[in-house]
Order: sequence, then structure tokens, then C-alpha cells
Amino acid sequence: MTYLTLNNGLLIPQLGTGTNTFGKENKDFMGVINGNTSELLSSIDVGYRLIDTAVAYRNEKVIGDAVSQSGVLREEFFITSKIPGSIEYMGTDDLVRQTIQSSLNNLQMDYMDLYLIHKPWDNLKDMLRVWKVLEEAVELGKIKSIGVSNFNEEQLQYLIDHANIKPAVNQFLSYPGFEQKELIEFCQSNHIIAEAYQSITKLTDETKKILSNIGKKYHKSWNQVVLNYQVNKGMVVIPKSHSTSHQQSNFDIFDFELSEEDRMIIENL
Ligand SMILES: NC(=O)c1ccc[n+]([C@@H]2O[C@H](COP(=O)([O-])OP(=O)(O)OC[C@H]3O[C@@H](n4cnc5c(N)ncnc54)[C@H](OP(=O)(O)O)[C@@H]3O)[C@@H](O)[C@H]2O)c1
Repeated sequence: MTYLTLNNGLLIPQLGTGTNTFGKENKDFMGVINGNTSELLSSIDVGYRLIDTAVAYRNEKVIGDAVSQSGVLREEFFITSKIPGSIEYMGTDDLVRQTIQSSLNNLQMDYMDLYLIHKPWDNLKDMLRVWKVLEEAVELGKIKSIGVSNFNEEQLQYLIDHANIKPAVNQFLSYPGFEQKELIEFCQSNHIIAEAYQSITKLTDETKKILSNIGKKYHKSWNQVVLNYQVNKGMVVIPKSHSTSHQQSNFDIFDFELSEEDRMIIENL
């Protein structure tokens, strides 16, 4: 595993597991929570320690159950959750505090490693208000690092200009064919870790074919090529799989280096 240093000096693993359909019936995002911890226990067994959940996934308790059932020490994990940008969770400062506490209760943890604003909303001033409550939770030791998700350059700049604690991470959609290169560069030049989501599921068949061809030289598959490419760009990646063999394959990405030429092909897809 490789790690990046956040702008507050803490470390984040570069590879983690997404969880947005874990612990749910029919592996369906909207499915009824069935409490199944086996998917995450399998990921933990493979070696994943960064776990990405969110209030909106409704499965924080399943994540907490799996972490405690795994027998792996809490401090070995890097647990991310996210506060929704909707009134019932963040409409007042007290609601923000309650949402944070409810995440901790569901996770059965006394701190989270990273808490993100899940999606921006129109009102920058109001986002700053919520951010200030997250800063307070950092001071109280309930959250180690705070960040955002799906923010653009303007929204990030506003926080950078007005916050006491700068965002540590911006998590956003990025995959070959829709890399969001400018946003990655903006984040990195402002010491914000760029974390890619949906690196795998959004790829077209055509892109997978190109990545598979590139992978042949390195004896790697298309999924390993894309994850290695993103990690090499200094990003954090969070592929999710319900299959142990896919989890293993997605984890086995640190023992090769794509040539500059191959990286350019992927960047220009
Ligand atoms: N911040 C946000 O707004 C936001 C939005 C979306 C997602 N996320 C986070 O990002 C995580 C990742 O996104 P995602 O789960 O939507 O998509 P993803 O990880 O890109 O792809 C998941 C899909 O790809 C398949 N897959 C995974 N590895 C594979 C492999 N090696 N070979 C073939 N198929 C493979 C999985 O099927 P199998 O189960 O059959 O392997 C699953 O259908 C989420 O779980 C969530 O934690 C955040």
C-alpha cells in the first residue's frame, strides 16, 4: 500500500474500498439494508483499510459492524463518511452536530478519519457555516480531517479563502474518458488530495479494450491499469466490488509502472 500525506500531516492510503451498495439487498444502492457484513469483511481480509461510506448510503452501521467483527484494530483503518447537503442534516448548526454524532454512533467509533460535505449547494456562505461546525468537530477530536466531494474550483477556492482548516480532500467523478484534469491539477496545486470515484463502473467497453491492450505488456488487466494510472497521478482511488476476486485484482496494482507513452494514451482518451 502507498500513502499520501494530507495537508494536516496525517496519512491517507491511496487505495480504499467504496461501499455504496454494501449491506443492501440485491447489491442495489436503493435496496433495503440487510446488515450483511460479508462483502466488507472480504475487502478487509484482502487488505483494504480505507473504507468510504456516507450518511446517504444508510450503511454506516454495517460498516461499523464489519470493522468490529474483523478484529483489526480501529487505528489501522481510515474511515470516511459524508454529510448530505440537505436541510434535514445540515439546516442548522445543531443539526450538523447531530449528523456527525449519528455517524459516529452508527459506525460505533469515537472518531472518523475523514468527513466530507457530500455535495455542494448553491449558497457558498451557508456551506462555510456548515464547514465551521466540521472545524469545531475536528477541535473536539471527533473527526481527524475534513474535506468535500463534488466541489468545483470556485467552491473549493471559496473554502480555501474563508476557512480556518483547508479542505484535505475533494472526492469526485474521474475515470479515463472523463478525467477532470483541470480539477485534479487545481486540487493538487492547492494541497488538496484528489480522490476519484467510479473509476471502474463508468468505463466504456471501448476504453476497457484500450486499457486491456495496454495491460498486456505488464500482465495486468484493464481495472488494474486504470487504478495504477490514477494512483500514479497522486490520486486516492476507492473501487468497490462485491466479488472477492475483483477485490483482490483491484488491490494488486502496486507492482508495475506504466510507461509515459501509455500514460499519455490514457490521459487523452
Ligand atoms: N462522493 C460521491 O458523490 C460518490 C458518488 C459515487 C460513488 N462514490 C463512492 O465511490 C465508490 C466507488 O463507486 P461505485 O461503487 O459507484 O463504482 P466503481 O467502484 O467504479 O465500480 C463498481 C462496479 O464495478 C464492478 N467491478 C469492480 N471491480 C471490478 C473488476 N476488477 N472487474 C470487473 N468489474 C469490477 C463491480 O461489480 P462486482 O461487484 O461484480 O465486482 C461494480 O458493479 C462508491 O462505492 C462510493 O463509496 C462516491
